[in-house]
Amino acid sequence: MGSLTVRNISEDVKKRLRLRAAANGRSMEEEIRLLLAEGAADAPVAAKPNVRPAKAAPSEAAASQVLLIIGGGIAAYKSLDLIRRLRERAIAVRVVMTRAAQEFVTPMSVGALAGERAFTDLFDPASEFDVGHIRLARDNDLIVVAPATADLMAKMANGHADDLASAVLLATDRPVLIAPAMNPRMWGNAATKRNLARLVADGVLTVGPNAGEMAESGEAGTGRMAEPLEIVAAIEALLSARDEKPLAGRRIVITAGPTHEPIDPVRYIANRSSGKQGYAIARAAAAAGADVTLVSGPVTLPDPPGVKTVRVESARDMLRAVEKALPAEVAIFAAAVADWRVAQAGEQKLKKDGGGPPKLALTENPDILATIARLKSNRPNLVVGFAAETEKVIEHAKAKLKRKGCDWIVANDVSAEGGAMGGDDNAVHLISASDVESWPPQPKDEVARQLVARIAAALGHQ
Ligand code: C5P
Repeated sequence: MGSLTVRNISEDVKKRLRLRAAANGRSMEEEIRLLLAEGAADAPVAAKPNVRPAKAAPSEAAASQVLLIIGGGIAAYKSLDLIRRLRERAIAVRVVMTRAAQEFVTPMSVGALAGERAFTDLFDPASEFDVGHIRLARDNDLIVVAPATADLMAKMANGHADDLASAVLLATDRPVLIAPAMNPRMWGNAATKRNLARLVADGVLTVGPNAGEMAESGEAGTGRMAEPLEIVAAIEALLSARDEKPLAGRRIVITAGPTHEPIDPVRYIANRSSGKQGYAIARAAAAAGADVTLVSGPVTLPDPPGVKTVRVESARDMLRAVEKALPAEVAIFAAAVADWRVAQAGEQKLKKDGGGPPKLALTENPDILATIARLKSNRPNLVVGFAAETEKVIEHAKAKLKRKGCDWIVANDVSAEGGAMGGDDNAVHLISASDVESWPPQPKDEVARQLVARIAAALGHQ
């Protein structure tokens, strides 16, 4: 038999073959020839059914693919066990190592455990021609950075792309999970705290670090990398959440943040809204698969990943942007819209000309929530407003529901005792025409996730 043609090879297997061939510096044909030779040598003469070839490429049978980025820390040795644990669970692992990581574990041992060579270099023609950092960034279900060193976190937070690991992290549109590991003083440093806050706001997920003895003798505190099995549990939870997209294909419009109402070209009326709750809802809705347009007043938060963010200044701009984003099935109005604007904003900067302070006549802004809730055509099926109250929270919120014509109100107590203002936790009531549900105090991200789950249920997702 001189030659053999094999038809119906799946795209995934072809991809694996191309990768193996490139990694081993062989042509595809050579690679296949060698694989066949190895398989034939291992196979019993009377082949048993369902016996998998001993040298099968790792991800042929794997349902999920994780890209593991190993940073340069002493905890890198735990990443070897992490690779093993993931492959035991039929999760394929492709590995990128930073230069510093290679001081702690070798690409050889990583490659042996992962079943394919580790990628190390942004300017390696072999990997760039075949896979390339863009495909490394995208051809996976999840990116895990373990250990995530202080330096790697700083690079991620600031968008650096000067090596393969950071370039992949900047180019990815996949969820990213980091397992920080560093000396407790580095973990407690203000710069690391700033970087972590930035990463969390960008939607990066974390597991650990844990408290305890450090590898360096005599050092203890928070900074130990989470144990491999803890990281595996976090990965499995994220991979299964990926399959649950209860809002897939649903269009949602969300407003967030304050509005700025001009007095003249340099001055404006504003409020202290940070936009955090609205942004958290946008993130949660996008994570649930929704097609989200976030219409945001001026805030310092970065655009949530996977969300179409439209930045506006004034209430009138916000209304226009919301109308443009329709039709949508759901509209959530979390913005703190200014009730008033200056009737005649100055075209030039107002001068102190000795004639006393200017008299600013105010006029009412459009009520975006009420306008959309009362649309005759194009009204979203579910219109949700927010109410921040300092007293008689439920009574006032119920009245607001009627007045504005919306379907639900998320009401919270912003009195000093409520602790919601500026705090991390929030206790809200979800109010509809027939029902009041009071949720316990919980982090604002959790409020967002729970609201999204209720919306999915209301839209008929089981
Ligand atoms: O009337 P009040 O400002 O308390 O109502 C709060 C709710 O109404 C929020 O959902 C807010 O986004 C929305 N709103 C609006 N346009 C306004 C004022 C409030 O969409 N001009």
